[in-house]
Amino acid sequence: MTVTELLETLPYGPAPEAAKPALEWIEAHKGRFGLFIGGKWRDPSTQEWFASINPANAKPLAEVAQGGPEDVSDAVKAARKAFASWGKTPGHVRARYLYALARQVQKHSRLFAVLETLDNGKPIRETRDIDIPLVARHFYYHAGWAQLMEGELSGYEPVGVVGQIIPWNFPLLMLAWKIAPALAMGNTVVLKPAEFTPLTALLFAEICQNVGLPAGVVNIVTGDGRTGAALVEHEGVDKIAFTGSTEVGRIIRRATAGSGKKLSLELGGKSPFLVFDDADLDSAVEGVVDAIWFNQGQVCCAGSRLLVQEGVAEKLYGKLRARMERLRVGDPLDKAVDIGAIVAPVQLQKIQQLVQKGVEEGAELWQPSWAVPAEGCFYPPTLFTNVAPASTIAQEEIFGPVLAAMTFRTPEEAVRLANNTRYGLAASIWSEDINLALDVATQVKAGTIWINSTNLFDAASGFGGYRESGFGREGGKEGLWEYVKKAESRLPIADSPKSKSRAKAKTAEAISYEPPAVSALPPIDRTAKLFIGGKQARPDSGYSKAVYGPQGQLIGEVGLGNRKDVRNAVEAARGAFEGWRRTTGHNKAQILYFLAENLEARAFEFARRLELQTGADGMAEVEAAIQALFTAAAWADKYDGVVHNTPIRNVTLAVPEPIGVMGLLCPDDRPLLALATLAGAALAMGNTLVVVPSPAHPLSATDLYQVLETSDVPAGTFNIVTGERDELAKTLAEHDDVDAVWYAGPQAGRAMVEKASALNMKRTWTLPESGPLPGMDEILRQATQVKNIWVPYGA
Ligand code: NAI
Ligand code: MG
Repeated sequence: MTVTELLETLPYGPAPEAAKPALEWIEAHKGRFGLFIGGKWRDPSTQEWFASINPANAKPLAEVAQGGPEDVSDAVKAARKAFASWGKTPGHVRARYLYALARQVQKHSRLFAVLETLDNGKPIRETRDIDIPLVARHFYYHAGWAQLMEGELSGYEPVGVVGQIIPWNFPLLMLAWKIAPALAMGNTVVLKPAEFTPLTALLFAEICQNVGLPAGVVNIVTGDGRTGAALVEHEGVDKIAFTGSTEVGRIIRRATAGSGKKLSLELGGKSPFLVFDDADLDSAVEGVVDAIWFNQGQVCCAGSRLLVQEGVAEKLYGKLRARMERLRVGDPLDKAVDIGAIVAPVQLQKIQQLVQKGVEEGAELWQPSWAVPAEGCFYPPTLFTNVAPASTIAQEEIFGPVLAAMTFRTPEEAVRLANNTRYGLAASIWSEDINLALDVATQVKAGTIWINSTNLFDAASGFGGYRESGFGREGGKEGLWEYVKKAESRLPIADSPKSKSRAKAKTAEAISYEPPAVSALPPIDRTAKLFIGGKQARPDSGYSKAVYGPQGQLIGEVGLGNRKDVRNAVEAARGAFEGWRRTTGHNKAQILYFLAENLEARAFEFARRLELQTGADGMAEVEAAIQALFTAAAWADKYDGVVHNTPIRNVTLAVPEPIGVMGLLCPDDRPLLALATLAGAALAMGNTLVVVPSPAHPLSATDLYQVLETSDVPAGTFNIVTGERDELAKTLAEHDDVDAVWYAGPQAGRAMVEKASALNMKRTWTLPESGPLPGMDEILRQATQVKNIWVPYGA
């Protein structure tokens, strides 16, 4: 026997990590845990406990409290009480607490790692080397933001009491992603761990006690989905942060609609892993291992769709099968195990059913020759080839160690396949050609892109989804906005006193815009149409709607747009989107300046029309609208991203991208100024629009058609549909091809828009129908979503 043969045939001996310290910790609590509320432990009002199981051997580890609505309510009260002082605690003091939490996590890192592995089934190698170090890193990083908040987020304050609901796949890491930024920004929290994996959160509660964190700042209420629902619905909560399934995300979106609660959702994914024919295939194979067999594939951003360029597909599959044959599935506490246990039998069944479906739908299944342990919850690494892009296993999140492979021929086809999903969480791109990789990175619709790498995480980089993968970011500076609000949330825009005199002084010039006051001929009747795809279009309904002035006098008519007109406008906006998105910031600015210029040329006409509609100072508003267009133009080439300082040899590019096709339902207050401000900013950031003007004062928007036509605004970029606001809003909010809706209107309408948006998880931003507009920083943030592109380097 040669040495090589020996090395290849030598079996692994067991290298187990001892479970004892974690089991002793459980034993010290007599195997039963209460709720952590207001700094104290107590039994649940339900008097119900449930078992947390070790999925590797199906044995119960401990009894955990089922928190009921009363417990949730008490926890919210405790958090509210604590907020009164914690919200005003100086940043430096909060920084000290977060620093202490980080230190404590490090000091007890082995206990945390073993406990996590026991409760979840993930390999000790991962909890020890990935989960727990990242948890500590998150608290350190956010200690820094607590320290810097006053200067770097001046004018912002904490949101208040935050309800946080986390999943079972990264129990302590998700806790850290939620609690660290919340506390750093001065909020207090009620956190509900997942029912499969509550134990490390309970150990974390103990370290909160150890560091002397004021009572009520962190409350941990264990329980199942009912406990989560009670937290979501509680009136005393100012914000909900959720990570979990898209299905539950939708329930939460609907449950919080109209409540005014801030909401961030981090949901499912079906992320593409793209391999081009010039990729380093051996590295790509290791990438696949980390993409889909890390954490048993129970990763929201798992690279679960392998898209390979045709010419190298068979070669890559061959290498992959050889690698899979050598992966080791088994006891998660064994330090030489690659893949541990699936979290619970129900999850195992889900995987088995979806794999069965894949076989039935005609994909080719491959699994290694060896068998997984019979006892416990195990599933082998699985590769499907010959997968049809529309099939179930190509579209549905399996959340297990199952990879679905497909091929493509050209980069264009690769992008199309990559985006052929409702999700948009992450993507991994493999090519030795950096030009190609970055070009594809800009086109894939996902919140995180890894180039020649995968599943890299760090507190300094934001993480979060596009489309049905949710909204909001966790990590990086971009993640902080989820946990703050403007101290004065709506900024007044003052009238310019000069403009009044200018309007008066130039009345003579203005008169030239008046129709002849007395004429032998009857005036020519004029009804504004809709503006769709760069053309004036008759409303489908064939109806018009009267517009009245402040004294009730009839001043004009507008078309009554309907569902069909909205659909046409959305189609036009979708058609224009790619072109507009790719237009350089400089050129977008030029067009917005030109729009301002052409508005200025007709200032008196617009001023008079505004005065007829609202009775307010028309010229002041026209001037402010021109200024708003200048501001939007100014931002078009200045709203930069950043390069995050992540701790590997790497640049992480945080790039603000447009959201897509946006519905914009304008407020009644200062109809022209609001339109110019909101639409200007949205366009400057690269979105295309379907605008519904103020229903009370729509004529300034319809007058804009001719300005738009003469300002080089590309057809389809800016569409206008007049009509009943809430009817049109509903169509927009329900429309599957609309990515965001901004709605200014009454409370009932705001609730309706938020509820309807849950269908495709579109982003919504709702405002009252009147009152001053929010500041430009907030508008620009709402008009964009951050994509983080990780580009490692090293020869
Ligand atoms: P889930 O979404 O039901 O659970 C996540 C958390 O939400 C848990 O803490 C749960 O107790 C809570 N929850 C459940 N119903 C709730 C409600 N009505 N209101 C408020 N909170 C509620 O996920 P589950 O059932 O554990 O897993 C099902 C599937 O979801 C998985 O197979 C996977 O596809 C996906 N998933 C995705 C995750 C991600 O990180 N994107 C994490 C976990 C699961
Ligand atoms: Mg468990």
